[in-house]
Amino acid sequence: ASTLGAAAAQSGRYFGTAIASGKLGDSNYTTIANREFNMVTAENEMKIDATEPNRGQFNFSAGDRVYNWAVQNGKRVRGHTLAWYSQQPGWMQSLSGSSLRQAMIDHINGVMSHYKGKIAYWDVVNEAFADGNSGGRRDSNLQRTGNDWIEVAFRTARAADPAAKLCYNDYNIDNWSWAKTQGVYNMVKDFKQRGVPIDCVGLQSHFNSNSPYNSNYRTTISSFAALGVDVAITELDIQGGSAQTYASVVNDCLAVSRCVGITVWGVRDSDSWLGANTSPLLFDGNGNKKAAYTSVLNAL
Ligand code: XIL
Repeated sequence: ASTLGAAAAQSGRYFGTAIASGKLGDSNYTTIANREFNMVTAENEMKIDATEPNRGQFNFSAGDRVYNWAVQNGKRVRGHTLAWYSQQPGWMQSLSGSSLRQAMIDHINGVMSHYKGKIAYWDVVNEAFADGNSGGRRDSNLQRTGNDWIEVAFRTARAADPAAKLCYNDYNIDNWSWAKTQGVYNMVKDFKQRGVPIDCVGLQSHFNSNSPYNSNYRTTISSFAALGVDVAITELDIQGGSAQTYASVVNDCLAVSRCVGITVWGVRDSDSWLGANTSPLLFDGNGNKKAAYTSVLNAL
C-alpha cells in the first residue's frame, strides 16, 4: 500500500488525522489529508464551546464542515468531545451542581442527536483523571457535581446514539507504570463489571520529554483490550518526530487485535498545536513526507 489509510486497512485498522475546518481551503493540506487518511477527528469544531456557545442553542456549522468534508471523501469520523473540563463555553464554566449536571446531559443529547448514526466513535469524556501520583480524578466543575458524572455521561450517550462506540479519552495514560494509567484502568474495569456502557479507551499519546514513549506501551494497550474494550491511539504526536518511536507505536498497536486504529493530531508540522518547531508529525510544513512517515508506512 502506498498511503497510510490503505496500509492500515490491510489489517482492518484505520489511520486518521485531526482536521481543522479553517484549513479546508488550503489545497496542499486537503490533498495530503484526503490521500493519506481514512478517519477524521475535528480538532476543535465538535467541542462544547463550538457546538453549544449559548445554553440550549446549538451550532454545528463548523463541525458539519469537517464532518461533510470527511464523509464526502469517503472517511469515517471520530466525535471529539462531549464532556471535558476544558474548552467549555463561559455559561457552562459558571455552572455547578445539579444545573451543571443537567447541562452536561442536555449537551450530550443535543450533539449526539444531531450526529446520530453518523459517528463511528465518540470521545464521550475527555481528560477526567489527575496528573501525578494520585491515580484519582482531576478536580473540575464536572467532578464536583459528583463522582458518578462519568458514568452518567456514558449512559446518556448510549441512549442518545446506540450505534456509536463510546470512548474514554486521556493523555499520560500510555505508560503502564503511571498512577494515572492505573486509575483509568480501574475505572474501565469497574464500568465493565457493573455494565456501564463503554466500548473503547483512547490513548491520546502526546509524547514528549516529560512523558516519553515507553516500551510498556504495548502492555498498556493489551491490558485495556483485555477488559473487553477497543483501544484507539487518538491524538498521536511525538516531539522531535523520531521515526523509530513512530514505528514502535505502530508495532505496538498492530500487536493487539483490539487496537483499532491510529490518529495523528494534525497533518503537517505547521498544523500542529505544539508548533512546527517541535517537528511532531509525519509531513513537514511544505507537505513533504518526513522520515517518520516512511517509518510508519513500512511498519503498517
Ligand atoms: C487542542 C487543539 O489541537 C488546539 O487547536 C486547541 O487550541 C486546544 O486543544 N487533548 C485533546 C485535544 O483532547 O482536544 C487538544 O486539542 C489537545 C490535547
